[in-house]
Amino acid sequence: MRLKRSSLIVAICLVIWGTLTYYALIRRLEEPSAVLELEIGRLEAGINEQMAQNKEMIGKVQGILSRKKIGESERQNSLKNVVIPVLVFACNRVSVSRCLDKLIQYRPNPDQFPIIVSQDCNHAPTSDIIESYGSQVTLIKQPDQSEIPVKPAEKKFKGYFKIARHYGWALNQTFFNFNFDVAIIVEDDLEVSPDFFEYFMATYPLLLQDDSLWCISAWNDNGKDGLVNSGQPELLYRTDFFPGLGWMLTKSVWMELSTKWPKAYWDDWIRQPIQRKDRACIRPEISRTKTFGKIGVSNGMYFDKHLKFIKLNDKFVPFTKMDLSYLLKETYDKDFLRTVNQSPVETFENLKLGDIDRDGPVRIVYHTKDGFKSNAKGMGLMDDFRAGVPRMAYRGVVTFYYKKRTVFLAPGWNWKGYDLSWT
Ligand SMILES: *[C@@H]1O[C@H](CO)[C@@H](O)[C@H](O)[C@H]1NC(C)=O
Repeated sequence: MRLKRSSLIVAICLVIWGTLTYYALIRRLEEPSAVLELEIGRLEAGINEQMAQNKEMIGKVQGILSRKKIGESERQNSLKNVVIPVLVFACNRVSVSRCLDKLIQYRPNPDQFPIIVSQDCNHAPTSDIIESYGSQVTLIKQPDQSEIPVKPAEKKFKGYFKIARHYGWALNQTFFNFNFDVAIIVEDDLEVSPDFFEYFMATYPLLLQDDSLWCISAWNDNGKDGLVNSGQPELLYRTDFFPGLGWMLTKSVWMELSTKWPKAYWDDWIRQPIQRKDRACIRPEISRTKTFGKIGVSNGMYFDKHLKFIKLNDKFVPFTKMDLSYLLKETYDKDFLRTVNQSPVETFENLKLGDIDRDGPVRIVYHTKDGFKSNAKGMGLMDDFRAGVPRMAYRGVVTFYYKKRTVFLAPGWNWKGYDLSWT
């Protein structure tokens, strides 16, 4: 059965390759120019590389899946062989040591989780700090320190251009030079939880297996102390929103993004529909990272008003020993939508007053952009949208915890997808 599937995949690849080569040849016959030939060569190399990688990936996924059938301990053994580097972005903050200290303290195995620190800015005191970690981390430095030409109106946002340049370079290094298949991205102002590595290790197979996932994030944008279920740190969700702030992506996703990587504002760019392509991320109930940096490109306001209230998980959850297959799209969507739709509709006022005389989850329904915003604000949730998606929403539904119950802030039954005009 598995053999049949593999032959089918190989056959499909051959047909695609054949067709592309055929068209490439036709083009070559029509316009025999040196430039064109170079381009065709590149195209072919790209296709071959992609094919090889896909094959490798399929092999791996099949390996992991079949081991899962054999037994739980086997699956855990196969996970032990996976190498997942952590790529830390640094610039001119010596407080990067706080981030590195926690990563080193909690990482179960340095060979399995190598730490690469990529430094921009050439800030000597920061380089010194990073170098003081010796062989515990690998330091690489972004070589292009030239000024970036920006329009006068964007002068004050220059930092965002530098960040995007740094990300593009460092991710290329990680995936194309060091040749890793996957990486966890962390910034120098993040502190990680004790089960940070356990979380990413356990969710990695999901990322390989489920094409509708494109990231695993450690972050819950609505994860303030009073809005999470502290008794259930093992809860995980899917979200259509890209949370960032401690996240994992695969080389195949980077191959797709790297060629069109933007000059600035990469996080909002990545959230646009043409990049996201309806893919989701996994996010935890309680964040596995917390930002301690106040001075940064996106000034301290946001930190004081919001970020500093996000709760960092402090209990170790043994995720690799748990069955996380409920997060795969088919299962999750069915169960999630059923649970949401079966939850009784309540008013925001009753919820706020605690005036509901039964247990279990409830649903608050919104129909308009302003309806969403006023409900979200009233409950202390983030009320903004990116590319029409509310923070942490999945199929329009924002799940959170309020006065000892799960609440779904959900759109009406005739919801037709995210509305790009909701900004
Ligand atoms: C990263 O690699 C891609 C693919 O090879 C390339 O198109 C892109 O220009 C590179 N970006 C940087 C910043 O080097």
